[in-house]
Amino acid sequence: MTTFPASLPGGTWALGDLTVTRFGYGAMQLAGPGVMGPPADRDSALAVLREVADLGITHIDTSDAYGPRVTNQLIREALHPYPEALHIVTKVGATRDEQGGWPPARRPEDVRRAVHDNLEALGLEVLDLVNLRLGDASGPRPGSLAEPYEALAGLQRQGLIRHLGVSNATPEQVAEARTIAPIVCVQNMYNLAHRHDDELIDELAREGIAYVPFFPLGGFSPLQSSALSAVAARLEATPMSVALAWLLRRSPNILLIPGTSSVAHLRENAAGAGLPLSGEDLAELDKIGR
Ligand SMILES: NC(=O)c1ccc[n+]([C@@H]2O[C@H](COP(=O)([O-])OP(=O)(O)OC[C@H]3O[C@@H](n4cnc5c(N)ncnc54)[C@H](OP(=O)(O)O)[C@@H]3O)[C@@H](O)[C@H]2O)c1
Repeated sequence: MTTFPASLPGGTWALGDLTVTRFGYGAMQLAGPGVMGPPADRDSALAVLREVADLGITHIDTSDAYGPRVTNQLIREALHPYPEALHIVTKVGATRDEQGGWPPARRPEDVRRAVHDNLEALGLEVLDLVNLRLGDASGPRPGSLAEPYEALAGLQRQGLIRHLGVSNATPEQVAEARTIAPIVCVQNMYNLAHRHDDELIDELAREGIAYVPFFPLGGFSPLQSSALSAVAARLEATPMSVALAWLLRRSPNILLIPGTSSVAHLRENAAGAGLPLSGEDLAELDKIGR
């Protein structure tokens, strides 16, 4: 069944000249264990992606480092030729090693190669949005992003990339990027329990720039909080639904990319993000990460 994007909770947001549903989808969970190799059940992974499109979701987050290459190839197999309204957001700046680690790959030649790899794997001539991923697995790290970001801005001028963003970035790196070329989003870790970017979110909202929290449900360790469980029980909803609904209410520039390898969870999340939260619920939830 095809539904219209407007029926997804949160409505839409403009990433530059691209309109996306605020309820998006993060494809990382489609690769094998540790985000390495193929999924245990390829047909289920393809079914999740087809359901994403059928639900009217127009924002998919991916990276050629997932698998590596695995999620991009699944996206292409499931959805190419892509619906005109669908926008695939990818990221460059890290690669994979044989142990499943995520070593940085941020020399200009690395990011250029990664852009061409993403274009090829996804079967695209232009990438809608490329995030430069900074920092490491433990979070953002200070330091100039000029070299790799200037390389991406060069590819944007060549017409290979429509829009740019940064990921796993400090507020200083966000500011530095904006002196080189405009950004349309920041993708950092943020959820009910990890609120270190509160100020940055508000500042970006004032500037019309999207904030895309990764690990909205806690990532590899699901969100756990007695306050969250209490609100969920009162509303007869799951903690995941409450966590997603809270993010949509937190700020209009927040776009959701919850990850799942399950069609049932995808549907549950798309419905759950629309859960109405009262002032009392919000006040109780707001205390969790403060
Ligand atoms: N920029 C970066 O550095 C960076 C880093 C990490 C992630 N990301 C992006 O952010 C996206 C989201 O992050 P994430 O997928 O790692 O974490 P997440 O969305 O916080 O959580 C995903 C986990 O929650 C489970 N889940 C989802 N819906 C559920 C439901 N309704 N009921 C029970 N369990 C549920 C999933 O398991 P099931 O598969 O069983 O549903 C999966 O284990 C990724 O897909 C990726 O695109 C970016």
